[in-house]
Amino acid sequence: MKHIAAIALSGMFILSCGPQDNINFVTDNIIPAPQSIVAGDGTFKVAGAGISVSEDMDAMSVAAIEKFAGRLGKVTGRKSRVCTGLKEHGISFCTDSTMGRESYRIDISARSARITAADFHGVLYAIQTIGQMLPVEYYGDTTVRDALWKLPCLTIEDAPRYHYRGMHLDVARHFFSADEVKRYLDLMAMHKMNTFHWHLTDDQGWRVEIRKYPRLTEYGSIRKQTIVGHHNDPMHKVNGNIYDNTPYGGYYTQDEIRDVVAYADSLGITVIPEIDMPGHMVAALAAYPEMGCTGGPYEVRCTWAIADEALCPGKEATFTFIEDVLTEIMELFPSEIIHIGGDECRKQFWENCPDCQRLIRKLGLRSDSRFTKEQYLQCYVTDRVQKFLAEHGRTLMGWDEIIEGDISKDAVVMYWRPGRSRMPANDGFRTVMVPAPYFYFDYYQSEHLDLEPLSIGGFIPIEKTYSYEPEEEVDPEHLDKILGVQANLWTEFISDRVNMYYNLLPRMDALSEIQWCEKGKRDFERFKKALVHQMQAYDIMDYPYSRAVFGEYGIPEKFKQEME
Ligand code: ACM
Ligand code: ZN
Repeated sequence: MKHIAAIALSGMFILSCGPQDNINFVTDNIIPAPQSIVAGDGTFKVAGAGISVSEDMDAMSVAAIEKFAGRLGKVTGRKSRVCTGLKEHGISFCTDSTMGRESYRIDISARSARITAADFHGVLYAIQTIGQMLPVEYYGDTTVRDALWKLPCLTIEDAPRYHYRGMHLDVARHFFSADEVKRYLDLMAMHKMNTFHWHLTDDQGWRVEIRKYPRLTEYGSIRKQTIVGHHNDPMHKVNGNIYDNTPYGGYYTQDEIRDVVAYADSLGITVIPEIDMPGHMVAALAAYPEMGCTGGPYEVRCTWAIADEALCPGKEATFTFIEDVLTEIMELFPSEIIHIGGDECRKQFWENCPDCQRLIRKLGLRSDSRFTKEQYLQCYVTDRVQKFLAEHGRTLMGWDEIIEGDISKDAVVMYWRPGRSRMPANDGFRTVMVPAPYFYFDYYQSEHLDLEPLSIGGFIPIEKTYSYEPEEEVDPEHLDKILGVQANLWTEFISDRVNMYYNLLPRMDALSEIQWCEKGKRDFERFKKALVHQMQAYDIMDYPYSRAVFGEYGIPEKFKQEME
């Protein structure tokens, strides 16, 4: 009822005010804010409007437009038919390949809403923008005939600031079903994001079926129990660590992976798989101990924090394993970029391993004032994997540890450790910005720790995320090396969907504006007002979210019940 009243009021506003006012009302809801909006005069009736599509429109765009028509029909109660061949009246979609990648334009008059898009992505983003200008019931499954299904007359011209607009999800620490991942992708699409970074393997679980190495999932996907709370945390422990004594597991079959990748594709989202190596490999070592320096035995890790064990690069079988796994990964994921992690690889086993030390000698690696010989050994692994991927037309991506030493500039680097890592872009690496102090969405979003669900720590209120400027640490001559921005959702302390979305939203909204809006165009006060509409949409779609930005803390009661 509350939503309907608000919409009715907004509708009255549209009908009774001048063009500038009605523009302010609905266009201010759009997240990420478009680059340019010019107000017109009057409104266009959406309910029941016919939809026409230019003859040359590609099949994926047509499918997205059909889906949009279906949604409009459902919520307005009046069918919108899609026909081929552009019409003067009604809603029309056409493409213009001279426009910038992923851009779109919406021209609305009293008789027509014309969408001109550069490409498939432009079509998708125009549809998202239109959806955000409609009453929030657009996001629901019920017909609301008395809502004001109208759009204001205007012109919107829009294009993203960055072409890499990513969101990450760790499914190794806690597993989320393929269906839940699709719901996550839906949210990404709503925020005009185009890259899903899927962290599929780690010490605590291997989550992707690899046909050649069945034990990875048969054995490596299951840990025998999970630590409760923080490791050695006096707040949560009395005598050492406590474990839940419950086996935990889960993995995706290759068919499920293909299904998720195809679904992402229909939303304009590329899926970058991450197979983290040579550290973060304990689950694989538990399944195939012969790839470790000591030969094990190893067990799938039941605690968080960084493991000491890593793959042994001194054994040639390790590279056979890596190449076999990546071969199947490349078959499953068409993404040009393949992420091989490279973070937090402890080297003490390498220091004491005869095989690793033999390889170091053979390669002539020496410690110097910058890096140890074992760090150079990791560079050898990275470079070798990079060459293998390149032979298959793929590009290696890794966390910023991969530049500790000398590696090929063909690699793409994820910058997550400001103050601890060199800025990869300034060294000439193509770089995706994921600095932890702004974009680790598993950190607390309020300081009311008594009300917030237990988190890994840290504090990243939405205001902080919103304040990030990607160019800040980059030299002017290297600005073109910034591919884009991403946030990460690590899941050590996020074991269910309620916690997942609660941590994600609405910080993901802030991220989307950093990815999309031109430098200096962001405005937190406008953004905060837009969040009111966005949160109503989340309510309708049943996504939990934090209201810390409005001074309310903790998981809402309704969702706490779901968790019990
Ligand atoms: C990371 O957070 N270990 C990339
Ligand atoms: Zn070794």
